[in-house]
Amino acid sequence: PLGPRNLARRLRGQWGERRTRRLRELGQAAAEIDLRAYLVGGSVRDLLLNQSTQDLDVVVEGAAPALARRLQERTPGVRVVTHAAFGTATLIFPDGERLDLASSRVEHYAAPAALPMIELGGIHADLWRRDFTINAMAMDIHPARFGDLLDPYHGLTDLRERRIRILHSLSFVEDPTRILRAVRFEARLGFCMDEQSQRLALNALHLGVFEQLSGARLWRELRYLFDLPQAAAAWERLGRLHLWTVLRGEPAKDPTLLLARGKRALEMLQWYHLLFRPEAVRPWAVLLRVLLGDLAEPALRRRLHEFQLAARDASVLLADLRQLRPLAQRLRERLEPWPRYQALAPVSLEGLLALMAWSDNELLREQVSDYIQHQYDLALPLDGADLLALGVPQGPRIGEWLQWLRRAVVEGRVQDRETAQRWIRQGLQQETQSP
Ligand code: CTP
Repeated sequence: PLGPRNLARRLRGQWGERRTRRLRELGQAAAEIDLRAYLVGGSVRDLLLNQSTQDLDVVVEGAAPALARRLQERTPGVRVVTHAAFGTATLIFPDGERLDLASSRVEHYAAPAALPMIELGGIHADLWRRDFTINAMAMDIHPARFGDLLDPYHGLTDLRERRIRILHSLSFVEDPTRILRAVRFEARLGFCMDEQSQRLALNALHLGVFEQLSGARLWRELRYLFDLPQAAAAWERLGRLHLWTVLRGEPAKDPTLLLARGKRALEMLQWYHLLFRPEAVRPWAVLLRVLLGDLAEPALRRRLHEFQLAARDASVLLADLRQLRPLAQRLRERLEPWPRYQALAPVSLEGLLALMAWSDNELLREQVSDYIQHQYDLALPLDGADLLALGVPQGPRIGEWLQWLRRAVVEGRVQDRETAQRWIRQGLQQETQSP
């Protein structure tokens, strides 16, 4: 039930009067200066899927900055940011809504996987250069044709049949990130690549298209996948499309195990999100640890550098991964509370979830989950100031007593303030009696 070929009513019903009016005004402004303009890409797809959408994308046959200025003249309060070099402009409305205007373009790639060189062209050419048929539809906003759907490549049929289909056979070669985008849309929408697209994706892989893609762009796409609510489906697809080598920089030693670890990691994330503060762990950070967890240190460093991970994220990840394998081994045996605490305290929360996913050993998981629930971010009943007040001398003794207290709490000997204070007083007394 994807509705009629004119989307005006659907637009108003779904996205409301204000947004509809904005698009109408933009279409009028375009008509006044003899330009044609279209809503395109993800917005049209989302509209047809009855979904909300982020920023709106409009393509102009002609100069987008000129249209932006025209609209601004008609509609006070709109801010315009133009990027003359790219022929684009962004309209920012008083309520914060953004609308991106681009000049319709024909892209030429100087080399496979290079950034595109752009020339002006018509809307059909613009749509032809896009990634998938479902993203290659446009809605006319000209006043005489407002809402008319332009669907030269049968995106509507593919939406109905839940298909991710590229438009031409060089699509993945020109832009290998589209392989990851295909996985993203598959997972997010519950769609499937058609056979031909999948074959061409695998062909492009064999041709080595990813070698020319920068690590940073690769990681940006991958990170979107990892943060999807449907990351489990995406993870599975990455394996089926034989993408591990490209993503890791070297083949997976045991793809089945990697698949299982990713799935476990996502289960652990779900568990964590249900019990604690979801914002404390970033799914991508856990999955990246799982993905790269068994690389040797030099390969790992190289990968993180290529991905251009933020310095702090990279150093925490490195520190976590150095401990991951030894810890996964050690925690197959039951450790006493204090040695267990000391072993796990240096690991980040994201590292702990990756550790739980590393093997299916029950004892490992039990010990780490117990640590997360009861000891991670341990609150001590007294702080340094309390200790000073109790008569602990300033200096290194404070740290020693705090560590003593931490151990007593971990071992369950001290829980509340009163007991802690009593113990400290007793301890200090003993010290003065037998120096
Ligand atoms: N596009 C493309 N090739 C790419 C990236 C983008 O052809 N490698 C086109 C698609 O038509 C896409 C549009 O540019 O619809 C906008 O891209 P983007 O904002 O990344 O994606 P959306 O489709 O808007 O998806 P999302 O809802 O995730 O923003």
